[in-house]
Amino acid sequence: MFSIARNAVRPTLARAFAAGRASKHTLPPLPYAYNALEPYISEEIMKLHHDKHHATYVNGLNAAEEAYAATDSTAKRIQLQSALKFNGGGHINHSLFWKNLAPASETGGKLKSGGALEKAIVRDFGSVEDFKKKFNTATAAIQGSGWGWLGYDPATKKLEIVTTANQDPLLSHVPIIGVDIWEHYKNVKPDYLNAIWNVINFEEAERRLLEASK
Ligand SMILES: [Fe+2]
Repeated sequence: MFSIARNAVRPTLARAFAAGRASKHTLPPLPYAYNALEPYISEEIMKLHHDKHHATYVNGLNAAEEAYAATDSTAKRIQLQSALKFNGGGHINHSLFWKNLAPASETGGKLKSGGALEKAIVRDFGSVEDFKKKFNTATAAIQGSGWGWLGYDPATKKLEIVTTANQDPLLSHVPIIGVDIWEHYKNVKPDYLNAIWNVINFEEAERRLLEASK
């Protein structure tokens, strides 16, 4: 999936670079050091994931958008849809993901007791432990790559667990917490999903919930 979508935009990408055009989307820097999430996520994984994977989505998105803007052909524009979705979703999701994590020595893993997020989780899932269990079960069931989400539904004003396949962004809900299950490739999936709660930036998640429920 990854290589197919990347190959589909490669000639356009090469042309864009050759022309020296300024890229519209850029790779955001990590808001902490590459090794700051250890021992839960390794420095090696963070470097590969941010510098290689996310950068590829950014380049692919710029190339697909340029190709889209450069053509008047409806057929060609339809053909570009999958590259836009894959690379655009990858860029949106990963930009959110880096902010979604924090070192365990800082805000990582610390859900504020009595805060708006904890109250909403208890209201909608019974308890924080039940929420994590349900989230991990739903996310572990994703076949191949994808994302597990804690999303806020603006219509019902409730938190829900949702999954998306590949790099599809969450559009039905406001994303509060997103977990990319690609990283588990060096770990057993349940171990990765248990470990990640130690570095989830709950402060950022609560900020997103407050913003979404204004
Ligand atoms: Fe990823």
